[in-house]
Amino acid sequence: MRRSSLIVLLFIFALIAGGCVSSNQQTNTGAARKKKGPNEPISIGFSMDTLKEERWQRDKDLVEKHAKEVGAQLSVQVANGDDNLQIKQAENLLTQGVDVLIVAPHNGEVAASIVEAAHRQGVPVISYDRLIKNSDVDLYISHQVVKMGEMQAKYLLDHVNKKPANFVIVGGSPTDNNALLLHQGQMNVLKPAIDRGDVKIVTDQYAKEWQASAALNIVENALTQANNQVDAVVASNDGTARGAVQALEGQNLAGKVLVSGQDADLASLKLIVEGKQTMTIYKPIQPLAYGAVDAAVKLARGEKVDTTETIDNGFKKVPAILLEPIAVDRNNLVSTVVKDGYHTLEEICANLPPEKCPK
Ligand code: GAL
Repeated sequence: MRRSSLIVLLFIFALIAGGCVSSNQQTNTGAARKKKGPNEPISIGFSMDTLKEERWQRDKDLVEKHAKEVGAQLSVQVANGDDNLQIKQAENLLTQGVDVLIVAPHNGEVAASIVEAAHRQGVPVISYDRLIKNSDVDLYISHQVVKMGEMQAKYLLDHVNKKPANFVIVGGSPTDNNALLLHQGQMNVLKPAIDRGDVKIVTDQYAKEWQASAALNIVENALTQANNQVDAVVASNDGTARGAVQALEGQNLAGKVLVSGQDADLASLKLIVEGKQTMTIYKPIQPLAYGAVDAAVKLARGEKVDTTETIDNGFKKVPAILLEPIAVDRNNLVSTVVKDGYHTLEEICANLPPEKCPK
């Protein structure tokens, strides 16, 4: 009897241990890496979550442009916020025989299965802009997202002229690791101010799918709750910032309440010039897009990619390239976004009286 229970125990133990090993094998080793020779053409698959925000169209255009410049073949798929579709599209790219995948995930957790599918075919994966969590992803290229959250909160804290000041926090999509990192950065700055009694948080919520309409709702409710006594809205990107501005306009408060943003969208740069949005975070997309294509070519050839740091994704420390963001307001808009040709002053100031346009 005792012997049989020991056997049962050993069997269970073997099952558990076997599970760990096989899941490790799946994510950690995969098939032997494909390697392209120095003169063989490279085929890159780019799996994108969305083209909804202006910036993603730019990402797509620049990845396409640089792939052409380096002589790589490129297939782009856009999942429009649908996880199952993104997985299917990535599988299609693998079936097409791409040598390397660049993935901007809709959901950082779910996209781990794309990495596993790619590795089963010996195809390396680059996590683009947003981190793919809990996976053996080969490289992460993005911006310093925690720092961006810190910059948003610090800017508003430095410019708010009330103590205590009432803050509303509007996060991005909770399925996007960037939204979580931004929030972490925002709280790095706000927590000490809250503890000092300089800041009160009216509400702190995530806007589903980064939707402006969700941000509009959050800010409308916050205004009602605080009797319109809101001094600053930490909006995590420009889309949510525009939702916040719309809610403020409904109460004749646009321009009186500070609003942060991110992405240097044309529509938000116009609001900054008009004084309705206070700042944005400008991330020149070209270094990101070109960096991803260059890294993709190297990975496909089995060459080393230079990285600056590692980021823990829950499974491993992922080698990472994290680019510098730039805080932009009315005062430095011309010397940053306009100087780089990201947007022209004519575009930004169209429909505005010339004297309102920054020089
Ligand atoms: C984030 C990204 C932002 C913004 C947002 C909405 O992950 O960092 O730049 O575009 O997604 O798509």
